[in-house]
Amino acid sequence: MIDQIYRKTVLTVAGNKAVESVMRSRGWGLAQRFVAGHQADDIIQAVKDLQKDGIGGLLDLLGEFVDSPDTANAFAEQILSLVDQAAAAGIQPYITVKLSGLGQGLTVDGEDLGLTNARRILSRAKPHGGFLALDMEDHPRVDVTLAQFRRLVEEFGHHYVGTVLQSYLHRTEKDLADLADLKPNLRIVKGAYLEPESVAMQDKADINASYRRLVYANLKAGNYTNVASHDDGIIDDVKMFVLAHGIPRDQFEFQLLYGVRRDLQKQLASEGYRVRAYIPYGDDWYPYFSRRIAERPSNALFVLRGMFGG
Ligand code: FDA
Repeated sequence: MIDQIYRKTVLTVAGNKAVESVMRSRGWGLAQRFVAGHQADDIIQAVKDLQKDGIGGLLDLLGEFVDSPDTANAFAEQILSLVDQAAAAGIQPYITVKLSGLGQGLTVDGEDLGLTNARRILSRAKPHGGFLALDMEDHPRVDVTLAQFRRLVEEFGHHYVGTVLQSYLHRTEKDLADLADLKPNLRIVKGAYLEPESVAMQDKADINASYRRLVYANLKAGNYTNVASHDDGIIDDVKMFVLAHGIPRDQFEFQLLYGVRRDLQKQLASEGYRVRAYIPYGDDWYPYFSRRIAERPSNALFVLRGMFGG
């Protein structure tokens, strides 16, 4: 409950225009803990650095809200160029994207545009052994994201495209069952948005229990599972679960956010688990940064200390 109040307060304050304007002008230095930089070169360098510790990358060009087909297409072009640059640098173009950034949220023909742009990225990445993961956004976008995930898996195959399920949503266990025929590659997360009680669990213990059920079910079904959490309790339980059920290490990976629990990322890799860091880059860093602060009070203290000294 306190977690929820904290999260709601931070996300509400972060959405205030005056706060946003101060943060955008003064907060970049702090955001760099979580964001690799502004340019594709920055993220490529970040992946190379992580690879030295046996950690892979999920490449995320930041950008969530587009207001026209031109901005959506320009965003997609930037991702296509990232795919080319990653491939040229010998890095797997494992792209993660919010469909809204590709145009899905536009009222006129948005869904078609989002899907078309996703297809363009997959077509470019696939020959280089690439992958496209569709991030999950707030609850009104879940249906369309899952529908488009289905279309893309049918067209490109489940080895090349994945999506995300959020354990806090009441609907998610049914969504998992409905996706079963696709043998889906899924990233399981707790959920980062401010959602009402009518659609999402509010209690941490419930969210964590749902998280474990989703991961275990997808693993038991033989599907590739991305365990995306920094929660030691969950990570330890997944390690025990895979051991007890004879699930091979190439059927799952741990995914963590760039700049969060670097010690744990290295440790998991050194124990021989597959590990990948979600690495954002680009100019539109503020919404992403706000969600990281909202996840954890110590992140807020880090920002306050950075801005006001002490
Ligand atoms: P949670 O916040 O529940 O904390 C549990 C414990 O983890 C803490 O007590 C602490 O021990 C540890 N911990 C957590 N954060 C820490 C920190 N900053 N520093 C140190 N310890 C920390 N969400 C979404 O809605 N859609 C999406 O597509 C994605 N994608 C995504 C990809 C990846 C790779 C990750 C890791 C996460 C996401 N998320 C997401 C975000 C996700 O929904 C969630 O908000 C965060 O991962 C926080 O939940 P955790 O399970 O990590 O820890």
